[in-house]
Amino acid sequence: MKRFYIEKAGEFVGKEVTIKGWLYNKRDSGKVKFLLLRDGTGIMQAVMVKGEVENGVFECFNSLTQESSLIVTGKVREDKRSPGGYELSIKGIEIVQLAQSYPITPKEHGVGFLMDYRHLWLRSKRQHAIMRIRAEIIQACQDYLNTNGFTLIDAPIFTPSACEGTTTLFGVDYFGKKAYLTQSGQLYNEAAAMAFGKVYCFGPAFRAEKAKTRRHLTEFWQVEPEMAYARLEETIEVCEELLLFILKRVLERRREELKRLERDISFLEGIRPPFPRISYDEALQILKERGIELEWGEDFGAPHETALSQKFDTPFFVHRYPAQCKAFYMKRDGEAPHLALCVDGLAPEGYGEIIGGGEREDDLETLKERLEEYNLPEEAFQWYLDLRRFGSVPHAGFGLGIERTVAWICGLSHVREAIPFPRMLDRIRP
Ligand code: 4AD
Ligand code: MG
Repeated sequence: MKRFYIEKAGEFVGKEVTIKGWLYNKRDSGKVKFLLLRDGTGIMQAVMVKGEVENGVFECFNSLTQESSLIVTGKVREDKRSPGGYELSIKGIEIVQLAQSYPITPKEHGVGFLMDYRHLWLRSKRQHAIMRIRAEIIQACQDYLNTNGFTLIDAPIFTPSACEGTTTLFGVDYFGKKAYLTQSGQLYNEAAAMAFGKVYCFGPAFRAEKAKTRRHLTEFWQVEPEMAYARLEETIEVCEELLLFILKRVLERRREELKRLERDISFLEGIRPPFPRISYDEALQILKERGIELEWGEDFGAPHETALSQKFDTPFFVHRYPAQCKAFYMKRDGEAPHLALCVDGLAPEGYGEIIGGGEREDDLETLKERLEEYNLPEEAFQWYLDLRRFGSVPHAGFGLGIERTVAWICGLSHVREAIPFPRMLDRIRP
């Protein structure tokens, strides 16, 4: 017989099964004892009635502590009142380990406390739901890209140069030389796109962000597609398709988890393309109408993004930012050279930026000038300049931040819950 997992309980009604798991909680009503068991796939209620199980089994109930590891055998019954719709009639219990006094009890705890116990907190229902949705989102990104002609080409984590500005670099000692942890795989993606046409990389990015906001981590994950011969409009189309694909997938496969998080599912279901596309200048106008002044040329900060993203009830795109507030590699708009051919994808409901991308400068001499303007050492970028020396073509791509996407789809108030072990300004443990 197939190994039993709680999430597949429906396939085992009437059968005797074995649950290998942990005690989530227990309840006692005298002659009937209830165990809430979890096995990593779900939670199931197991019941034993005095006289219907061996005395030894019935009596062990009192000794069972929260999170004790147990192997429980019994018969699966359908029971509409039970969480999940199925119940186990216990026949035997094997105690693998009796857990010590568990620090996370069913009562409320503060986030700081829970974060200190992140290694245990992951076992709770809410965190379980978030992590499953995260895994689904990552898989959806990969499925979308793999079936749309993109080849996965991994980018390195150690790099000799900055991609996203020199102020947020994490330096490491690389055999006596200075190296950095990657901020983005983009530059390597560009090399890969010239070899494979459509590519993506998926991996962690590191930024020494001093910001203590609800959307900044120092270590986060990005999926980054890059396309040779693509222009800004096509890139925005891909962003839109990818976001729609992710939403559809999560709604299909992780509905129970969304419910557990009390996410407004109908809001997500109501999201339809096309997503609005507005220019930076139009965005400034919207901000102004809402009483928020921002000087032309400044990048949006958290309050601006929040205000903008409250205006829309689908994701939306802001394109053509002032070149001065964007990275060195951005291609300028031929008709308005003070603007970058870039795009940010913002999530609605106050969440803000989840995607950043655009066209890349593909002219050798212009790119050299940019490196100088941005005070970046040409030496370290010789290989990158080679891409403009040997068959340079227009190209574009973007990066989608996994944690911010998870935070939005799950309706979380902070990205720290969107990653298994968050790294932030004030947190590197556990
Ligand atoms: O907008 P960013 O900085 O763009 C890039 O890194 C490009 N090189 C990507 C590319 O074109 N291939 O970052 C992309 C996304 C952001 O939109 C955001 O979702 C996420 O990465 N991100 C962060 N997420 C959590 N914490 C941080 N500190 C983040 N910084 C960026
Ligand atoms: Mg950005």
